[in-house]
Amino acid sequence: MGKRIKIFDTTLRDGEQSPGCSMNLQEKIQMAKQLELLKVDIIEAGFAIASEGDFISVREIAKTIKDCKVASLARTLPKDIDYAWDAVKYAASPRIHTFIATSDIHMKHKLKMKPQDVIERAVSMVKYAKKYCTDIEFSAEDGTRSDPEFLAELFEQVINAGATVINIPDTVGYTTPEEYYDFITKIRERTSNIHRAEISVHCHNDLGMAVANTLAAARAGVTQFECTINGIGERAGNAALEEIVMAIKTRKDIIDLDCHIDTTQIMRTSKLLSTITGVHVQPNKAIVGSNAFAHESGIHQHGVLEERSTYEIMTPESVGLTTNKMILGKHSGKHAFKERLNSLGYTLTEEELTKAFKKFKELADKKKVVYNRDIEAIVTGGIIHIPETYELKSFVINSGNVITSTASVALKRREEIIEEASTGDGPVDAVFKAIERIVGINLVLEDYGLHSVTEGKDAQGEAVVKISHQGKMYRGRGLSTDIIEASINAYLSAVNKIADEISRMDKDEKIS
Ligand code: KIV
Ligand code: ZN
Repeated sequence: MGKRIKIFDTTLRDGEQSPGCSMNLQEKIQMAKQLELLKVDIIEAGFAIASEGDFISVREIAKTIKDCKVASLARTLPKDIDYAWDAVKYAASPRIHTFIATSDIHMKHKLKMKPQDVIERAVSMVKYAKKYCTDIEFSAEDGTRSDPEFLAELFEQVINAGATVINIPDTVGYTTPEEYYDFITKIRERTSNIHRAEISVHCHNDLGMAVANTLAAARAGVTQFECTINGIGERAGNAALEEIVMAIKTRKDIIDLDCHIDTTQIMRTSKLLSTITGVHVQPNKAIVGSNAFAHESGIHQHGVLEERSTYEIMTPESVGLTTNKMILGKHSGKHAFKERLNSLGYTLTEEELTKAFKKFKELADKKKVVYNRDIEAIVTGGIIHIPETYELKSFVINSGNVITSTASVALKRREEIIEEASTGDGPVDAVFKAIERIVGINLVLEDYGLHSVTEGKDAQGEAVVKISHQGKMYRGRGLSTDIIEASINAYLSAVNKIADEISRMDKDEKIS
């Protein structure tokens, strides 16, 4: 097992500060609970003095969360620290996180303070915070553009004043992995009491190196990573939690680190954040983008269908997805096309498959993505003809909220009319059961959906059913202005596919 890294999530503080990412109280609480399920070690819940809303959300999160530390940010000012403590004191495990800028640029132009005054302020405010709380994190804002000798002196004194965590942020996303490693190493060597504190890093992504910088810092002895979900944060954002964690898990062979994150909660957490903020991640975003586990090119699809590890370095399941995605488009090959047909319940002869694939390629040249509906239209519109073995003649249902639904269905099979009745959990279930009796084979309803395809009172309803028979899935669609009739049509179209396949198999057996 590798060195244990603590994951400090600042989605609700640094992340929430970024344009378009603000959240209300309920949303922040929902997000905090999800971060708890994800098993982050520390949740930075906000900047308590920033507004009344921030104060209340830090306080409510502190009251709600039980399994993570809860931190509030505070400048090195008594009033900030008072607010931070008043909000986080309800937490099972509270932390005050105080910061001051330490680079020459910031001290001169922003703080207008002399380096020695910055040290004095930092020391006195860590002591002030320590009266409230044992766990104090001190951050040297713009750390990577600060003088390492000065930082070492400052850290030595704040550790003596009671800081338990020392954070060295790359506030403007300026450093590189090698430089950051050397910088932190130098500070460690020059800070005699550094072993009494935990070292943390906090990287912004202005040059796209936030995750690489974070991981490089670990080699220099850092044990806390600050990051956000989906990498949201000021300007180009912060180091993305999901990328850091999956790098650690996937490259165990060379990254000797370990964290307690439940990676199967990653997708859910990312989606929740996007839903709450309305800020969607780019499709090609590592780990959580919609294309991160999607394959379109024929060569890749073929490879993945044969053996996933050909093009997947981690499994979709490990981040909480149920499966990977095969996008059918102009780059897809016959192998993936055939797989999709099978999953839709079509088994084509070699000749039919070749014809259907040609039509698919023609369509894919015109359309970016070819959906299941398009494929069904190709197959049923001329490639294969599914005979209507069973046709609906009539149905009667009796349903209501105080009676058990019953249905009587009459189907035509060749010249014969067969009638059956059944009860069910609602009228749709009753008609499906009646049909199953007529057909006389075991059918399992796997999925059923209904939506309107036109508008108005006489809207057409489209029903889609998925039924399985002997482990294979068959899909059917049906249209009607009557939703029960649409459902029967959908069910029968799937049943007719099964009947067609059974009769083809019978023929094959007779031939051989
Ligand atoms: O980027 C930064 O320096 C910060 C500090 C307040 C930790 O967000
Ligand atoms: Zn930051």
